[in-house]
Amino acid sequence: MDSHPRVATFQMKEQIISILADKIPSLTREEIAELIEIPPNPDMGDYAFPCFRLAKSLRKAPPMIAAELQAAIETPDFVQEIRVAGAYLNFYLKKDAFAKTMLDQARDPKLGSSEEGNGHTICIDYSSPNVAKNFHVGHLRTTIIGNSLYKIYSKLGYHVERINHLGDWGTQFGKLIVAYKKWGSEEDVRSKGIEELMRLYVLFHQEADKDPALEDEARFWFAEMERGNEEALSIWQWFVEISLEEFKRTYKLLGMEFDHYTGESFYRDKTDDVVKRITDAGLLTESEGAKIVDLEAYDMAPCLILKNDGSSIYATRDLAAIFYRKENYNFEKCLYVTGQEQKLHFRQVFKVVELMGNEWAKDGLVHIPYGLVSLGGEKLSSRDGNVIFAEDILLEAISKVKEIIEQKNPSLENKDEVAKYVGVGAVIFNDLYNQRIKDVSFRWEHLLNFDGETGPYVQYTYARCSSILRKVADYDPAADADVSFLTDEASLGLLKELCRFTAVVKEAANRFEPSVVARYSIAVAQAFNHYYTVNRINVEDAAERNARVLLVDITRRVLRESMDLLGITCVEQM
Ligand code: ARG
Repeated sequence: MDSHPRVATFQMKEQIISILADKIPSLTREEIAELIEIPPNPDMGDYAFPCFRLAKSLRKAPPMIAAELQAAIETPDFVQEIRVAGAYLNFYLKKDAFAKTMLDQARDPKLGSSEEGNGHTICIDYSSPNVAKNFHVGHLRTTIIGNSLYKIYSKLGYHVERINHLGDWGTQFGKLIVAYKKWGSEEDVRSKGIEELMRLYVLFHQEADKDPALEDEARFWFAEMERGNEEALSIWQWFVEISLEEFKRTYKLLGMEFDHYTGESFYRDKTDDVVKRITDAGLLTESEGAKIVDLEAYDMAPCLILKNDGSSIYATRDLAAIFYRKENYNFEKCLYVTGQEQKLHFRQVFKVVELMGNEWAKDGLVHIPYGLVSLGGEKLSSRDGNVIFAEDILLEAISKVKEIIEQKNPSLENKDEVAKYVGVGAVIFNDLYNQRIKDVSFRWEHLLNFDGETGPYVQYTYARCSSILRKVADYDPAADADVSFLTDEASLGLLKELCRFTAVVKEAANRFEPSVVARYSIAVAQAFNHYYTVNRINVEDAAERNARVLLVDITRRVLRESMDLLGITCVEQM
């Protein structure tokens, strides 16, 4: 067969395209390539060409076209048979040739990756919780999705900057300072952290309802922060540190990191410049004392740039951040992973950048929205005040998995570590399994089900592969494999799944959609479990054993790498 394994199956398809192109002058090679399908069921062939498109130009019924094509085509040597099935022309490849080309492709350790992103940078702005507020389930989603996109783009060779745009600036800090000075104590904040800061914040609003003068005080303190008042800044700084410490505990549980913790406050000395640039572009107008960019021509509410007291807002700092990132990282794309409720905000901000004369804003700035988390009526433990912290969900997942292990496999070594990776992995997988725009429902019995379409199911399949490899004698991963042992329907099915890996990663990147990878990992696990059910692996015959085990080994690698793309660590035993 072909000497260059990575292009081998590709070349089989190319040859089929050539054969068809020869007989169908009315379609280009590209059009034919697009039409060719891989049938879901191998009974229908390895490649299928539907003839519907040709019906109009040839003025014939599609099944008739298929039959005529079949008669006209000479069967090439790598093809077993070409059959007509309704409107389809189905190509059955010679099984051993097909198995060999797929195996060669799957064996390549670079399977799944590419170099297409080399020399390009992607910025991902995600997670970005708000200081002095809880890291809630919505933030858990952006963190998980953003981290997975980081892994996916890195796999394709891109350089990725992981940016945490913390909500650490704004009028709310004026309120917190007032509340802290009036009703708080250093001890309580130290011992209770964010919970206490949230209590003070709620208290402020209750009190301000009775005494509106408190609002003026809060505005005064935020203005002091903007002016650089040391007392104000040191209290604020302390709140930031306390919050970050808690956030980082959650990141540690998730096993996720950032390159930059550049929150909104990072841009506070950069907003003047951006206001000047907007003014120079002739875009800034006044409205009721505030400064805005009018976006009526684009069917949007105006983008507020400066409030009537001259202070900057969320959008101003986002505008400053865009130019900072463009100038410092020279990104090709900057992705923003936040809930759908910020859709208008990003459309406005991106439009302002574009109107300032930056063509790259058009497809360089991308909002990546996601759906809500519905708790499915189930009780998730929450702290006082009934807010749910992501950290508590993760800890609960870990302890539930620990219980399962204690029941099922009490003698397992490093139970705590396994419980952590499987528990956290289950939460991550549940989050990424459906399209991100869909709401995620959170049900323990579903997400921890070892037989469902879940993280634990993939983990379990991975551990099964590891266990087979541990037990098998004298397996040589580098040996030539006798593919005649891999031509049964289950082996070919598994090989087909494995070979899709690179295409799957690319599709996930193009659509900003980690669910493509999550679903793929389930498909691989299912194909493997079928293969394992119908084929004995650890057989007497060395050549047969080696070929079968090789497939286990490749499956194991592909499962580990696809789980890694989701941000999940696999365990060797569970
Ligand atoms: N802190 C915001 C929130 O919790 C998200 C920030 C998103 N990033 C941005 N550049 N605006 O809703």
